[in-house]
Amino acid sequence: MRILVTGGAGFIGSNYVHYVLQNHPEDQVLCFDKLTYAGNLDNLADVADGPRCRFMKGDICDEAAVTEAMAESEAVVNFAAETHVDRSIQSAGAFVDTDVKGLYVLLEAARARGIERFLHVSTDEVYGSIETGSFTEEDAFNPSSPYSASKAGGELMAKAYAHTFGYRILITRGSNTYGPYQYPEKVVPLFITNLLDGLPVPLYGDGLNVRDWLYVADHCAGIDTVLRKGTPGEAYNLGANQERTNLALTQTLLELTGRGPDLITYVTDRPGHDRRYSVATGKARALGWAPAVGFEEGLARTVAWYREHEGWWRRLKDGSYKEYYRRTYEERG
Ligand code: NAD
Ligand code: DAU
Repeated sequence: MRILVTGGAGFIGSNYVHYVLQNHPEDQVLCFDKLTYAGNLDNLADVADGPRCRFMKGDICDEAAVTEAMAESEAVVNFAAETHVDRSIQSAGAFVDTDVKGLYVLLEAARARGIERFLHVSTDEVYGSIETGSFTEEDAFNPSSPYSASKAGGELMAKAYAHTFGYRILITRGSNTYGPYQYPEKVVPLFITNLLDGLPVPLYGDGLNVRDWLYVADHCAGIDTVLRKGTPGEAYNLGANQERTNLALTQTLLELTGRGPDLITYVTDRPGHDRRYSVATGKARALGWAPAVGFEEGLARTVAWYREHEGWWRRLKDGSYKEYYRRTYEERG
C-alpha cells in the first residue's frame, strides 16, 4: 500500500511511520506535515527520504497541496491536528482551522480520488468526562475543551460525508498516549524532562484527575489494525485499561527519575478540567488488537528514552517553548 500519513512528523504520527516501515515491508509512506511547533523532522531523521518514505511539507487546509499529496496514495491516515488542551484554552482558532476545516479538506480530496481506506485519528476526549464505567462507540459526544470540541466537529463532518455522500472513513478514538518523541508540553514528557533537570512539576488541581495511559507502540498497532481490518464508516475506541490519577503517575515518575515528592507543586487547575476518561475497547479487540505494554513498563521505557535523547528534548525546550511555559505556568502560581 502507498499510505499518505498526514501529521507524520508529530508524536504518534512519527511513531506510526516507523511502525509501518518496520511491519509492512511492501508499503510506502508519504509523510505530509505543516511542521508547526509540534512537528519535528528529527523524529523521522532515520527514515525520511529513504527508498520507502518521502516527506512533503504542507498544510491539510490547503486543497491544492492535499490533492497533490493524495495523487499517488491508496490509503490515508490523518494524525494532523492541534493537540494540546492548554493551548486550545489560550487560543482556539488554529484548532478550528486544522481539526475541523483540515479534516473537511482531506475528506473532500479523498472522496474525489475514491480513496477506499481513510483512517482519521480522533480521541476519547470527544465523549467528555465519565465518573464511573466506560464509554462505548455508540455513546453521544460531550466535548468540554476547545480542543475536544474541534475534534468532535471534525468527526461530525466525517459522519455527514458518510450519510450524505456515502463516503465512509475509519475512525479511532485513542486514550492518553505516551512514549518516545512526545513534545514536552504534555504531562508525561513535561514531568520527565523537568524531573531529569531537578525542576518542580506542576500538578493541576488536586492531582486526582484520571487518565487511561496507552503506550504509543500499542496505539500505533491499534490504528494499523483498524486501517487494515476495520469496517469503513465505523469508529473504534483504543485504550489500555491502565487508569491512574495524575498523582499516581507523578509518583511513578519520581521513582523512575530518583527524585523526591518535594518537587511536586500543586498549581491552579486547568479551566473546565475533565475528571476522568475511560473507553470500552471490545470492538477494536475483536479485530485482533490488544495493548501489550503495561503502565509501569511503558513509563520505564519512556524515561529511559528521554534520558538517552537529551539533545532531542533540550532543542525543543528552548526559544518559543520558554515563552509558552511562562505564559502557561507563571500565572498558575
Ligand atoms: P502532535 O501535536 O505531536 O503532532 C501533530 C502533528 O500535526 C505535528 O507534526 C504538526 O506539525 C502537524 N500539523 C498540525 N497542524 C497541521 C496542518 N494544518 N497541516 C499539516 N500538519 C499539521 O500530536 P499527537 O499527540 O501525535 O497526536 C496525533 C493525533 O492523535 C491527533 O489527531 C490527536 O488528536 C490524536 N490523539 C492524540 C493523543 C495523545 O495522547 N497524544 C491521544 C488520542 C488521540
Ligand atoms: O485523552 C486523549 C488526549 O490526551 C489527546 O486527545 C490529547 O491530544 C492529549 O493532549 C491528551 O489530553 P490531556 O489533556 O489528557 O493530556 P495532558 O498531558 O495535557 O494532561 C494529562 C493530565 O495531566 C490532565 O489531567 C491534566 C494534567 N496536567 C497536565 C499538564 C500539562 C497536569 O497536572 N500538569 C500539567 O502541567
